[in-house]
Amino acid sequence: MAIELYNADFRELGDLEERFGDFIIVTDPPFNIGYHYKSYGDSLDCAEYIEMVTKLMIGRKSVIVHYPERLYELAMAADTMPRRVVSWVYNSNTPRQHRDIAFFNVEPDFSQVRQPYKNPNDKRIKERVARGRTGARLYDWWNVNQVKNTSEEKTAHPCQMPLEVMKRVIGILPDGATILDPFMGSGTTGAAVAELNGAGANRSFIGIEIDKEYYEIAKKRVENVTKTQ
Ligand SMILES: C[S@@+](CC[C@H](N)C(=O)[O-])C[C@H]1O[C@@H](n2cnc3c(N)ncnc32)[C@H](O)[C@@H]1O
Repeated sequence: MAIELYNADFRELGDLEERFGDFIIVTDPPFNIGYHYKSYGDSLDCAEYIEMVTKLMIGRKSVIVHYPERLYELAMAADTMPRRVVSWVYNSNTPRQHRDIAFFNVEPDFSQVRQPYKNPNDKRIKERVARGRTGARLYDWWNVNQVKNTSEEKTAHPCQMPLEVMKRVIGILPDGATILDPFMGSGTTGAAVAELNGAGANRSFIGIEIDKEYYEIAKKRVENVTKTQ
């Protein structure tokens, strides 16, 4: 169980397999919409953007968070269909109320993460609880608030994923895997890996972020989780 963080453009790290061995990419890529990141412009030519993301997916196990229509486009460009898709839904004052999380070449196991039973008074559920079951397997529709300016977990990164969403994503992936996030941002994926490891899991994490300030935020965040364990 190792954690390695890099302040770099992932495209300049050479052959990722040669360097890091076997891994599952888990990432929330920039959306190429001219977002106000600190140093990254987020406005590549459309073909260049699709190529950058699909190169990460082709022939690899990958989990990508994106708007649904972009995921269809990426899947077609990479000529690979997701094995499963989860919808992450949230309330916001924008017309967009969900993003999807697509699992390519890797089968998530929803029974690895438990949620409270919806009908705890049902006779069969009571029997399951008596046999030691801690809840129902996770469903594929997750209602989790976005990170707001007032959220406790908020950092200076302008578009942070909720830790709860990333913990669910990592939690349903194979234990023992190495997780690689080439667009690490504030390090939410790494913090999720570290938190789950603190609860007995055993995954490694490699995080790469091009912006120095965001890299420092991620480093501190992951260190904070590991030092409290
Ligand atoms: C959508 S954000 C990721 C947010 C992250 N999931 C979080 O919770 O904080 C995408 C990040 O990718 C970074 N980025 C863009 N191009 C990159 C590249 N070629 N290599 C590494 N990082 C890159 C941006 O600076 C930005 O922080």
